Formats: sequence, structure tokens, C-alpha cells
Amino acid sequence: IKTKKQTMTGSATTRQVPVNQSSSSGFIGRAILVLIISFIVYSLLSAYFPASTDSIAPDESGSLKEDQVSLVTSAVAFENDRLKVYRTESSSSGKIKKKSELIGEFSLAWSGEKLSVQSKSDQQPSSSRPTDARDLSITWSNGGSSLTVTTLPQSFINSRFLSCHRAVLTTAAKESASLCLELPAASVYGGGAAFDQRWPINSQSMPSQAYVSNDFAELTGAKRSDLWGGFVERLWLTSRGLLVHVDDATPLSVGQEADRRLCLTATPDDEAYLWRSNPRDYLNVTICAADSAKEAYLAAHSWLYTRPTSSPDRRMLREPIWCTWARHKTAVAQSDVESLANDVTRLGFPASQIEIDDRYTINYGDLAWDPIKFPNPAEMTAKLKYIGHRVTTWIVPFFNKNTSAYDEAAAAGYLLIERVNDNNNKSADILWWQGVGGQLDPTNPSAVSWFANRLVTFRQQFGIESFKFDAGEVYYLRGARTQAPLEAPMQFTTAYVQQVAAKFGGAVEVRAGYRTQSVPVATRMFDKDSHWGGRNGLRSIVPNALMLSMAGYHFVMPDMIGGNAYSEDSMEGARPERELYIRWMQLSSFLPIVQFSIAPWDYDQEVTDIALKTLKLRAEVYIPALEAALTQLFSTGEPVTRPLWWASDGTVDDVRLWTVDDQFLVGDSLLVAPVIRQSSVARDILLPSGRWKDGYSGRLVDGPLLLKDHPAKLDMVPHFIRV
Ligand SMILES: *[C@@H]1O[C@H](CO)[C@@H](O)[C@H](O)[C@H]1NC(C)=O
Ligand SMILES: *[C@@H]1O[C@H](CO)[C@@H](O)[C@H](O)[C@H]1NC(C)=O
Ligand SMILES: *[C@@H]1O[C@H](CO)[C@@H](O)[C@H](O)[C@H]1NC(C)=O
Repeated sequence: IKTKKQTMTGSATTRQVPVNQSSSSGFIGRAILVLIISFIVYSLLSAYFPASTDSIAPDESGSLKEDQVSLVTSAVAFENDRLKVYRTESSSSGKIKKKSELIGEFSLAWSGEKLSVQSKSDQQPSSSRPTDARDLSITWSNGGSSLTVTTLPQSFINSRFLSCHRAVLTTAAKESASLCLELPAASVYGGGAAFDQRWPINSQSMPSQAYVSNDFAELTGAKRSDLWGGFVERLWLTSRGLLVHVDDATPLSVGQEADRRLCLTATPDDEAYLWRSNPRDYLNVTICAADSAKEAYLAAHSWLYTRPTSSPDRRMLREPIWCTWARHKTAVAQSDVESLANDVTRLGFPASQIEIDDRYTINYGDLAWDPIKFPNPAEMTAKLKYIGHRVTTWIVPFFNKNTSAYDEAAAAGYLLIERVNDNNNKSADILWWQGVGGQLDPTNPSAVSWFANRLVTFRQQFGIESFKFDAGEVYYLRGARTQAPLEAPMQFTTAYVQQVAAKFGGAVEVRAGYRTQSVPVATRMFDKDSHWGGRNGLRSIVPNALMLSMAGYHFVMPDMIGGNAYSEDSMEGARPERELYIRWMQLSSFLPIVQFSIAPWDYDQEVTDIALKTLKLRAEVYIPALEAALTQLFSTGEPVTRPLWWASDGTVDDVRLWTVDDQFLVGDSLLVAPVIRQSSVARDILLPSGRWKDGYSGRLVDGPLLLKDHPAKLDMVPHFIRV
């Protein structure tokens, strides 16, 4: 995050004047600027607040009665160093009555030594009609940097936006400037996945860095909590109905100062943005206003993304996945897989698939079973199939260097290549969490078909249903490049999901994505750690799920129940404690895809009983709500797992809904308030307006209402059904 340092002067000749707001030339310049800006603001505002009024008067609160409001619109103004977005209501006659509401505020932060601002366009708005195009253009006199704000024409704006403005910020070489969203103005949602995920994101902190998908693997020395995660859509929404989107071509870095501001910066020289084709070096931000956060969401998604039209494999939604990872780690053997499957069946647990995780092969990259650990894999899958189980296996796009697959792929040019200027096309060595190897280039069609054919053969040979695709983040592109340069590095992640993972049907699992919302596969959150806290423990799951909903990823799997048996600060850990495991299981059961690894019977009979009971509740209460929410998603684009504010009806009490980070809605009908705090057998629950039926007692309650100390014994997941 850049520190803002600026003087405001009217002319390029003041470049030698040191930054000092009290210097006289700075003062004069500032005065001129204030005059210019005041004029612009006056012109804008006078267009919206004409001195004459028509016959309809606002009520005492200053707002128009609903039947008098025919038009709600927005406008921008540049005041001092702030870009402000206003929303105004007008009466049916088109004349504005209500004082406009400030719904968004941006500041400029600049890294250069000095900054002087000159307004180029002090022209009046071209028309008094609020949605007409007007340009504001601010030019810094030194270095040729500029900020131009354009009001997009009505034709751009689909029916849901009130209006949109585009800010294009260019900077001279070696300077960098940020457009920062001021966080105190509203609750902010969306943006990227984070290790310390917050809901809303206002209180999150993140050092400014290239906004590309990362693994939280600590291979590069960066702290896990200092990186953006596997999902980094360039979309932010606010509780006041503001939408902020950054164009794909911008070499974007994003940083955040908790509760102060979120800064968007073009960083063309960042390592992540080298080797682009058709590089564009400026920041291109679209800022739109909608009536509400919900409208902003729906408008943004229909503008920017393709929504899914079908669901992942239904069995994977209805029944849990049983994965070997947290339970057996890399020691997994055929006998472990068989006994897991047998126990699942014997104890009466549902299962969509048994997933064999790392490591069933000897060498990473060769799809050859370890003959000692897995003496007869085809017989194993046949036996499992006989008792009704499907089997999936773990796949990585890496080929460690001593494998025959590496030699074959390197010779054929299927791997990422070194970033060197002489175009020697040498395969790049990629450090990943299980060694060093080459990595598949998912943007090379021949490489993809070679890789896919190997998987198809493997699948047929061993009766494998589908795959868990690991990695795919731009993190593993560092120091390397694709053969054909990309316009934006995130296309690497898009290609991995769309060109590779999506080829293997709906029972697939991925953990990264970019603009791949329409791909009907399970979207897994980053490997969770086995603790109660918000830093990637149980407490982070609801914020993570809501973040993914805002980004348009709905088929969410919150990783393994109880986490990966990693402790907070290391991958070495212990089995999750019993109570944590139970509460984790309950929360997972009200999210789209459930994955077990450590088994309930690894604890005791009571845990096994609670697990069976929770899965029965899932089948009876959650699955019907999920089905209804999916139907709605496919037709209207509304998210499956929704923040509480989705149920807002605009009443005063609703401000409390903006910050609830431990409850959520499933479609229109279900509200879930899982217990995620240690040693709790009761919790407070906020019910939005409407009539709700307690899922356990059947009691009817009318919201908005805060239920204090609602009972939630160890075997209960508090939930309410809208009636
Ligand atoms: C800015 O981005 C939008 C889409 O996000 C694009 O249509 C427009 O052409 C871009 N403008 C410039 C100047 O690159
Ligand atoms: C490949 O390297 C790994 C790690 O160094 C080693 O464990 C494995 O035995 C090697 N495989 C072969 C075929 O050399
Ligand atoms: C590297 O690959 C590019 C693109 O396929 C090709 O044009 C170039 O000749 C190759 N360079 C060498 C040294 O083989």
C-alpha cells in the first residue's frame, strides 16, 4: 500500500518544489484546484438538485415516499483527492428531492515524490440528465500521470445497474498510483480468498501484491496469511450497492489496510505480469451503483460471468466423499482403502466416492501404482464397486524429474518453460510441496490432450470414477511461463480448470479457479488446519463459503471435516479434538459438498451416532433446500449459500445483518446457525424479518429478532425454516 504524498499545484513548473502542503505555491495550487473542483462539484450537484422544486415534498426523514420515487440514479464527483459516488432518488417528475447519499468513496495513493493535480476537464456536465455521459479528467502535471473518469452510456448498463463509471488511471514510468476504496464507508464483500478470511472483508489486512492465485504453501518464504488464495476474482461489492471491478488486462496488485482502505494498483513491472502478450499497463476500474448489495451482485454476475447451467454430480452433493488424506497421509495403502470402504458400508454411512489421496504412486508424475502398497489396484476398485463404492484418485499437474512422464513431456514441449530471453524452450524446474519437477502447460492444447489421454487410460485400466485435481494456482507459474504468452497470468488457472479438470465429469474436485464459475465441479477451500480459530480453522469456513458465493462459486466443499490434522502453524499436527470434529461435521453438513477423512468411528460410538444423525438431518433438511437453491441459481443466478443480508427487506434493524459471519442462508428457505465456538451449548442467533420455524422445537418466531442463548447441545445444528 502506497503512502499518499501529494501537493496540489496547477503547473508543471512546480515539479521542483518539495512535498510540503504548507509551501506557498502548494497553497496557491491547492486553492486553484479547490476552485476548479468546487466548480465541477457544483455543476454536478446543481444538475441533480435543481433549485426549483416540484409539488411533491419529501417526508420528514428527507426521503421520498415509495410511490413518489420513479428514478434512482448515481453520479460521481471528484472532491479534493477523493472520488465520490452518490446515489440520489428523484420524484416521478424527474426532479430530485432527496439529498443524495454517498455510497462509495475512493482516494488516490501515489508513490512518486511529488504530485500535482490539474483538472483538464472543468467542463460542465453535457446535460442535466443524470445518466448522460460526462467525463472527469484529472492530470498530474509531472510525469504525465492521469486519472480519467467516464460515465458509461446507458447502453452499457444492463437493467439492474443505476449507472456505471469507468476510472482509468495511468502513471508515468517508475511511478505507481493506487485507487483506494475507503473501507469505513460500507461493509465490503468479495475479492480474493484469504488465509485469515473475514466477513465482511473490512477488517482483513493484506500486503499489496500481485493479485493472482496462490497456494498457502510457504515455499517461497512468504507467510501463508500474507498471500491471496486460490480464488481472486476482481470483483468487490458493498452493503450500499456499490460494485467495483478491475479489467482482466490490468496488471493488478491489491493490498488492504484493515478498516482503512483497499487499494488497487497497476504494477506492470511485477514479476507476475512479465511475459504478457498485448500488455496494458494502466489501471482500469469499473464502478457501478445499484439499488442494494443484492442488486449489485446480480448485476455484476450477469455482466461479468457465465453462471453454471448444471450441477456437479448429484451423488457427490447428496453423499459425502471419504478421502484418505488426513487419516492416512502419504502412508496410505490398499488395505487402508479397503477397510475404510468396508467400515463406511458396515456402519451404514452414505458415500459418493472413496478418494485415494497422495500417495498411491512411487514417483510423482508417473501414473503407476506403488506395487508394494497397492499390490492389486484393479481388484481393489472392483471389490469396492461390488459393495457400491466409486473410487477417485488424487492428481497433480507436476512431474518430478526422475519420472519417465517428465522425460516424455519435456521432450514434447508439454511443460512450462524457463523465463529466459533466448527462447531456448527449456522446461522450468518448479518447486512444489512434494519436490521439484516440471509442470503441465494447461494452455498448450497438445499438452492437455496428452495429459488427458493418460488419465483416461488410467481410469479405464483401474476402474477409477474421477479425480481430485490439486494445485492450478499462478503461484506455481513463478519463474516459469507458458509457451505462448498469456494476456493475463490468471488465464493459467482458468485453463487448468476449464481445459483439464472439467474434462473428467461432475465428480471432479478443484481448489482454484478464475472465471470458471460455470464449470460444474466441486470447489474446495484451501486445506484447513485443525483448530477452532479464524486463521484457516473452523471459524474461517463460513466467511470462506460466503466469499466464494460472492465470487460466483457455489458448489463449495469446505475441505475435510476436522481439517487436515495440521495444527495452526505447522503441517505436523494431531487428530482434531473430538468436540471440534463434531462441530466441524455439523457445519459441513449444511454446505454443498461434505468430505470426511478422519472417520467418526476413529473417536467413539457417540461421535459415530452424531455423525449418522447429522447426515440424516442433511438428507431431510439441507438437501431439499439445496435442490431448490440450485434451481434458483440456474434460473436467476442467486447464490446457493447466502449471506444473511440477502434476506434484508430494508428495515432499520437490517444493518445488523451486514456483519454476521457465523450464520448463513441456504436459498430462500433455510437459515443455519452452526456452533463454531469451543465448549458452547448455546448461541445467539439473528433472524432476519419474516416468520421462521425452529428446526428442532417447531416453534414459530417472527424476525427481525435476536435470539439470545438459543440451545445447541453437542448433537444439534441450530437451523430455521422460513414459513
Ligand atoms: C476497461 O475495461 C473494460 C472491461 O472491463 C473494457 O471494456 C474497456 O475497453 C477497458 N478500457 C480500456 C481503456 O482498456
Ligand atoms: C525419484 O526421486 C525420489 C525423491 O528423490 C525418490 O524417492 C525416488 O526413489 C526416485 N525414483 C527413481 C525411479 O529414481
Ligand atoms: C521455442 O518455441 C518457439 C515457439 O514454439 C519457437 O518459435 C522457437 O523456435 C523455439 N526455440 C528453440 C530454441 O527451439
